[in-house]
Amino acid sequence: MSALARLCDDIRACQECELARHRNRVVPGAGAEDADLLFIGEAPGWHEDQQGRPFVGPAGQFLEQLLSSIGLRRDDVYIANVVKCRPPENREPLPAEIEACRMWLDRQVALIRPRMIVTLGRHSLSRYFPTETIGKVHGRPRQLDGVLYYPMYHPAAALHQGSLRQTIEADMLKIPEILAQGREEPPGPIEDRQLSLF
Ligand code: URA
Repeated sequence: MSALARLCDDIRACQECELARHRNRVVPGAGAEDADLLFIGEAPGWHEDQQGRPFVGPAGQFLEQLLSSIGLRRDDVYIANVVKCRPPENREPLPAEIEACRMWLDRQVALIRPRMIVTLGRHSLSRYFPTETIGKVHGRPRQLDGVLYYPMYHPAAALHQGSLRQTIEADMLKIPEILAQGREEPPGPIEDRQLSLF
């Protein structure tokens, strides 16, 4: 069993916050263990809580379409969430719940070592850049400590607000080029800076 699979088992046994009392299944994450791209959503919804897999409901269908627009399938990337258990009534995760889950996501990132972390939505963005707002920074890559971060709107936003659909699609289409440019970045100390792509 891989270290990541063992970690996912530990996550499934987690009792660190109140969400453990409400969940049906824990949703640790799924995908390629050596993925270049790690997508981080907010929290499992009803479908994910039933199946124990991330992004398997309507937002997941849209995410799969977005992936396919850049020639990828979900098994080519890793998909996880800021919070691993469904908040009751699909409410937003509370700061204490995000904090309780922090170590799990950090350990997943340390094992997967993705080249790019795509944050999906507000909660995922503020997990890494607490002072940024999604409306301002979506579609703009940033490099920090050797990892590229790429903020996108959450795919569910397009389901509630149709006008965002094209923005999300356009942001996704930029990913291959950003990854390619990231590959050309020189190794060595990396300061927090915007890549001058777009
Ligand atoms: N929304 C999320 O943020 N994560 C999921 O896994 C499903 C829907």
